[in-house]
Amino acid sequence: MNSDNQFSPPAVKVLMVCLGNICRSPTAHGVFHKIIKTNNLEQYIKVDSAGTGDWHIGESPDNRAIKAAAKRGYQIGTYKARQVCAPDFEIYNYILAMDHTNLLDLKRMCPAAHQTKLQLLLTWGDSLHDTVPDPFYSGDEGFKLVLDLVEDACEKLLRHIKDRHFLIS
Ligand code: 4NP
Repeated sequence: MNSDNQFSPPAVKVLMVCLGNICRSPTAHGVFHKIIKTNNLEQYIKVDSAGTGDWHIGESPDNRAIKAAAKRGYQIGTYKARQVCAPDFEIYNYILAMDHTNLLDLKRMCPAAHQTKLQLLLTWGDSLHDTVPDPFYSGDEGFKLVLDLVEDACEKLLRHIKDRHFLIS
C-alpha cells in the first residue's frame, strides 16, 4: 500500500472559461497555475481552461495574449484550445466564466446538480469590474487589462480556496 496519499484530500479543480479559449481563459489558466506553483499547492489545486465556442479547438493562444503574458512571466504558448464538454461539469469544483455571455452559455449546458459551480472569475476581483472584457478586437491595452483583472482575481481566488478547503502553504 502506498501510504503517502492515504490522507490526502482530492485536489480542488478549477476551470477557466471564455468564448474562444485563446485570449482570456488561457491567460487566467497561466496566471492561476503560476500562483498555485509559487504557493507549493500543485498537488492540491489543479487548473485548466476551455472555451464555450468551437472555432479555435487545437489552436495555441492568440500571439498577443502569449506576448502580454510572457512580459509578466507567464508561459502560456504551449496551451491548446479546447471546448467545454459534459464531463467538465462533473470533474471541476469551480467553473469560472470571464463574462456574462460565457456564464449564460455555461448555465445552459450545465446539469442542475452542478449549477452552483458556475461563477464569474471576477466574483473575486475588485468591485469596479465584474467581467473580463474580450480583448480580441482591442489593442495591447486590452490584453494588459485582462492580465490586471485576472491577476487580482486569482490572488483572491487562491485565498478563498485555501480557506474553504483548509489548505496551508
Ligand atoms: P477569448 O477571445 O474568448 O478571450 O478567447 C476571443 C477569441 C476569439 C473570438 C472571440 C473572442 N472569435 O470571435 O473568434
